[in-house]
Amino acid sequence: MDCLNLGCGSRFHSTWTNLNFTSTSKEVIAHNLTKGICFPDASFDLVYHSHVLEHFSQADAEVFLQECWRVLRPQGVLRVVVPDLEQIVRTYLIALEKANNGSEEWAANYQWILLEMFDQLARNENGGEMKKYLYQQQIPNEKFIIQRCGIEVKNLIEMSKQKRNKSNNLKHIHDLFIKLSKFMLQSLPGKIYSNFKIGSFRQSGEIHQWMYDQYSLSLLLKKCGFQDITKRTATESFVPYWTSYNLDTEPDNSVYKPDSLYIEALKK
Ligand SMILES: C[S@@+](CC[C@H](N)C(=O)[O-])C[C@H]1O[C@@H](n2cnc3c(N)ncnc32)[C@H](O)[C@@H]1O
Repeated sequence: MDCLNLGCGSRFHSTWTNLNFTSTSKEVIAHNLTKGICFPDASFDLVYHSHVLEHFSQADAEVFLQECWRVLRPQGVLRVVVPDLEQIVRTYLIALEKANNGSEEWAANYQWILLEMFDQLARNENGGEMKKYLYQQQIPNEKFIIQRCGIEVKNLIEMSKQKRNKSNNLKHIHDLFIKLSKFMLQSLPGKIYSNFKIGSFRQSGEIHQWMYDQYSLSLLLKKCGFQDITKRTATESFVPYWTSYNLDTEPDNSVYKPDSLYIEALKK
């Protein structure tokens, strides 16, 4: 099988073709996916992307899914993984009700789920409010957050704890360099510096530009020509031995990103 992982970040399988905005390894090709998918028609049996589609505007997302269709062979499988808007909204409503009824535990969960819903859409700097929340000295609802967001966020929390415990000389040099470039850019007239900073950040691929639930994603896939659109779990797939690739699951079979919606569809 020829398999393609788009916007793989540092989560990829070495036997696949892996693409990302910037190359994260020698096995990852650097490519901007808003410029199309750089392969001929009908090149792959499986196209996969996880937590990528929401980084495109609605218009770019449609063109991107048409590109996925183009590079798939007939009977090929598309597997799309995105943060599940429906799951987030349902959790938000539960958190709102419980926080309103005076639960301190749910007041913290309410704060977190608001961040999940809005921060990646609204932030103007790396990590946004989510990073500040995860880097605070004492996170009141660490278990809730890890249950929702999985190993990636667990590692971030761990890293922030370690960082707090050791001073890092290289970091001082890095901070000095950032301060110096900021100073030079700040000498630009008027609001040019802040406009430039926000503009380049918002085009860096970090922010979310849209969110999907099963209903809206299925409609979009249908519009792009896909058939047999099927909701999956992290372990279910049309693809034989899916879990052996360890993309949506970890080697111990735990789910990599539990906040996800998994949808597969066929090119017929
Ligand atoms: C949230 S990360 C997900 C990474 C990985 N797929 C995973 O599930 O852990 C989103 C990835 O999409 C990539 N990305 C965003 N916009 C992109 C673009 N226009 N072209 C290529 N990659 C892009 C980012 O570089 C980043 O690695």
